[in-house]
Amino acid sequence: MKTRILNDGSHLPVLGLGTWQMGGGSNADHSQDDATTALIRDAIDMGYTHIDTAEMYGAGHAEELVGRALQAYAREDIFLTTKVWGPNLRYDDLLRALDGSLQRLQTDYADLYLIHWPNADIPLEETFRALNRSVADGRVKRVGVSNFDVPLLRRAQTLCATPVVTDQVRYNLHERQPQQNGLLNYCQENDIALTAYSPLKDGVLENATVQSVARKHGATTAQVALRWLTRQPQVVTIPMSMNRTHLRQNQEALSLALDEEDMRRLDQSVA
Ligand SMILES: NC(=O)c1ccc[n+]([C@@H]2O[C@H](COP(=O)([O-])OP(=O)(O)OC[C@H]3O[C@@H](n4cnc5c(N)ncnc54)[C@H](OP(=O)(O)O)[C@@H]3O)[C@@H](O)[C@H]2O)c1
Repeated sequence: MKTRILNDGSHLPVLGLGTWQMGGGSNADHSQDDATTALIRDAIDMGYTHIDTAEMYGAGHAEELVGRALQAYAREDIFLTTKVWGPNLRYDDLLRALDGSLQRLQTDYADLYLIHWPNADIPLEETFRALNRSVADGRVKRVGVSNFDVPLLRRAQTLCATPVVTDQVRYNLHERQPQQNGLLNYCQENDIALTAYSPLKDGVLENATVQSVARKHGATTAQVALRWLTRQPQVVTIPMSMNRTHLRQNQEALSLALDEEDMRRLDQSVA
């Protein structure tokens, strides 16, 4: 798996496995546990080494399934990201939330721990005191944020004792907010990875230009949408799939040779 070098010198796989909807949505769903555990293992066997999850997914059950799947692998071979949910950003709540996540994930540490959403009711200073302590304790290897705009990201950088390695935001061919609000530029200029979530949503796969570029290369529309993202400096992405063929195709997107003309057409494919 190709990686990007993060601003702390470590490597983050350019394509990771999203887990939203695995083990339920907002509530836990235990009906597919064996199939989902097997699917996560198959993804790892295909070469996925970054798994993105969150305490909120399936009310903790996504983390449980990831934890179960990871028992078959050496922990150090996987880059594991999880997130603390917005209401848990007070000092004691965050430390408790982290305990819960690590317990469900059956591990001693998260490679990356993200603030899932900003919460204006809780001072960011307090949240970062807890995050900095978690890093000092070794239970979190690096810190990032999610759904932060540039001003909030800048504040996070001043409060974090270690480099803020990523901002995870919704970004795809149809959702260009990170381009419009300056976040992508800021990340590119300040050596911060922009992790694009929902890379295949918002009607991207039905876009006529995406379909045309896909035909030209004998590729799938999803591959074009993923490669458009990962060709951009500092951008990594985390598509979710419950389908093994899609998992493989998504991974193979990294070797799709989009040329400058393809990139220009895709850039301009949305008015
Ligand atoms: N930080 C945040 O606030 C936040 C918010 C949302 C998501 N996320 C993270 O980002 C991950 C990805 O985002 P997402 O799950 O919202 O959206 P996504 O990955 O863009 O889309 C998932 C959908 O795309 C389909 N799909 C995947 N590969 C495909 C392919 N090759 N061809 C056709 N369809 C394909 C999947 O169906 P199949 O199962 O049939 O393949 C699934 O329905 C999440 O799972 C989660 O880990 C983070």
